[in-house]
Amino acid sequence: MSRFEHPLHNHWHVVALSAQLGEKPHATTLMDEEIVLWRADGKVVALSDRCTHRGTRLSLGWVENQNLVCPYHGWQFASTGEVVRIPSLPPERPVPAKACAQRYHCVERYGLVFVCLGEPTRPLYEVPEFEDGGFRMHLVGPTPWQTSAARSLENFMDETHLPWVHPDMLGNPDAIPVVETREVEEKPGEFYFECQSEVSDRIDRTKKTMNRLTYHIVLPFTLYHENIYPNGDRVIDLFFTTPVSRTRTVRYMVVARNFALEQPSERLITFTEKIWEQDRPLIESQRPAELPLKWDDEMHLRGPDGPSIVYRRMLAQAGMSQFPVVQALV
Ligand code: FES
Ligand SMILES: [Fe+2]
Repeated sequence: MSRFEHPLHNHWHVVALSAQLGEKPHATTLMDEEIVLWRADGKVVALSDRCTHRGTRLSLGWVENQNLVCPYHGWQFASTGEVVRIPSLPPERPVPAKACAQRYHCVERYGLVFVCLGEPTRPLYEVPEFEDGGFRMHLVGPTPWQTSAARSLENFMDETHLPWVHPDMLGNPDAIPVVETREVEEKPGEFYFECQSEVSDRIDRTKKTMNRLTYHIVLPFTLYHENIYPNGDRVIDLFFTTPVSRTRTVRYMVVARNFALEQPSERLITFTEKIWEQDRPLIESQRPAELPLKWDDEMHLRGPDGPSIVYRRMLAQAGMSQFPVVQALV
């Protein structure tokens, strides 16, 4: 029986940037599971980062002939997880089948590497604009935060904090809006809502516009957001929070825009990093770090907190509350 039977195990999570995978194996962690990534024949492979021989970290090893070599006694792991060479055994001795390493589903898309520890129940989020030449793309992250993935995701969809935490960037502190009840469209495992917000232009901060902001949340930790300017300019964010452990997460975001195509993306990346750094100390201060899913665990305001009420209810109904803590081997 698989160890990965929690509902959160059956979803894709981002574990690295494609650009982080070079010649050497790359170590990452997803839901307390230590994983090693490398490329074999150009394709990304994800295996448990524990040698089946003596538990050494395989990510300390190297890649040879598309295989991953354990640095302790030189066992070679193929992309299937099978051990294809044990140097200390004569070639005629068969490799024990039990030596095979745990392998995970792994795909690469949008410059990101996704892993699913169990069986994926939903496909990756599709964004046709990312394949459209009329958009210019960039990535933000990996940005680690000391909180849960759910707290981090809820922060992204929280509308009423914008003028308080991001004055003059994502909201106007001199005209705090009263937030009406949002219409939230629900489907199994996902929901959608939109709102208006006074936003500073990402290039020229002195310009302000009333923008339409759309939010499509797909459980557990994917959020598709559009920031639509009155003149038709669009910024698309595909945002992911990765559950590294119950209280550690990493943010990744794929961004596409249909304006200022000739301009480099550095200023936009700096803008987002500044916004995230304004949020980070507040979100890391929230207690408990894990998102409380019982209705009366925290205070909710009908209207302003509407989307997060839906998010918490849907996570609870899907059994996507805290994943089991893995007892580390000491
Ligand atoms: S611990 Fe990996 S080969 Fe011995
Ligand atoms: Fe924020």
